[in-house]
Amino acid sequence: MLAHTAPIDLRSDTVTLPSPEMRRAIFEAEVGDDQYGEDPSVNRLQEQVAELLGKEAALFLPTGTMADQVALRLLTRPGDSVVVPWGSHVELHETGGAGANAGIQLIRAGDPERRGLFGVEDLDVAALARGHMLYPPTTLVWIENTHNRGGGLVFPQADAEAICASARDRGIASFCDGARLLNAAVASQRAAAQLAAPFDMLSLALSKGLGAPGGSMLAGTAEMIGAARRHRRMLGGAMRQAGILAAAGIYALAHNVERLAADHDHARAIAERLEASPAFRLDLATVQTNIVVFELAAEPGLPDAPAFVASCRDRGVLLNAFGPRVVRAVTHLDVDTDACRRAAELMVEVAEAGR
Ligand SMILES: Cc1ncc(COP(=O)(O)O)c(C=O)c1O
Repeated sequence: MLAHTAPIDLRSDTVTLPSPEMRRAIFEAEVGDDQYGEDPSVNRLQEQVAELLGKEAALFLPTGTMADQVALRLLTRPGDSVVVPWGSHVELHETGGAGANAGIQLIRAGDPERRGLFGVEDLDVAALARGHMLYPPTTLVWIENTHNRGGGLVFPQADAEAICASARDRGIASFCDGARLLNAAVASQRAAAQLAAPFDMLSLALSKGLGAPGGSMLAGTAEMIGAARRHRRMLGGAMRQAGILAAAGIYALAHNVERLAADHDHARAIAERLEASPAFRLDLATVQTNIVVFELAAEPGLPDAPAFVASCRDRGVLLNAFGPRVVRAVTHLDVDTDACRRAAELMVEVAEAGR
């Protein structure tokens, strides 16, 4: 038991609270009516993100889910098909929005063993031909970088480039769900613009590892972003003095990017501690950023994921069960080295108690 301390919350990097300095930036934000294009903070953030990602323009949206939904509506037509990775957020965590909002079908590329990665050969298999009226034509290919359910894997740049080039040759648009793109950039020591370059359009979240209380971005050509603005409004996501939130995003980009490396080190340390215990199944090669997805060994006496998560919660460590024996832990700016060390010890203690 972690007595008399606040719980160590490893459920997600979305649980971070704005720091006093970020709150000051919010307090002092210059604002205006963004529907008239008059919010200076939103405008500044949009310009900064366009530059960071090497795209002509960017758009501020309330959530990553809305960014994904706007992208689907913009880059497809009802009846089309979209090639997505195994375990994608857009398929599993957006309450069926892809079908309801965009009227498209999702086709999976890759398999669970590849944990959300796939190559150009998988696109070739999955993409359906245009021109034959039997098929829902594939008009969009989608990747997730880093891949959440896959355990925070960085999408290999060479694969991203080959997939997008092949897609372009066939008139298929490309999109990157880059909710955690800056984790990928820090982990792979590549500029965010380099990771973004192959894609027609991409998203970036401010409310995950970057620690802002809300907000996600879309980036692409000026024409696409103009059209995205209309879809954002249609989905009810056009705000007014949104600079209150944008100021937190500007603060986050200035102060919370390089420190993502610390979150990655913490995830690694947790993973190494778990991997050393026979109660867990974990491939250290999959721990590349701030997410640790691990399995509880299927041995008599060992808890399943819901029981393990419940015991950890009772003893002060919060986690999410991802399957009958699969659990996810996510590090972020509100958990330091010592908290991660204590959380890992407690996880081992709880899992091994039944052996
Ligand atoms: C990969 C990925 N994409 C999109 C989202 C959606 O973001 P939001 O919670 O802001 O809607 C998430 C949220 O965790 C995510 O992990």
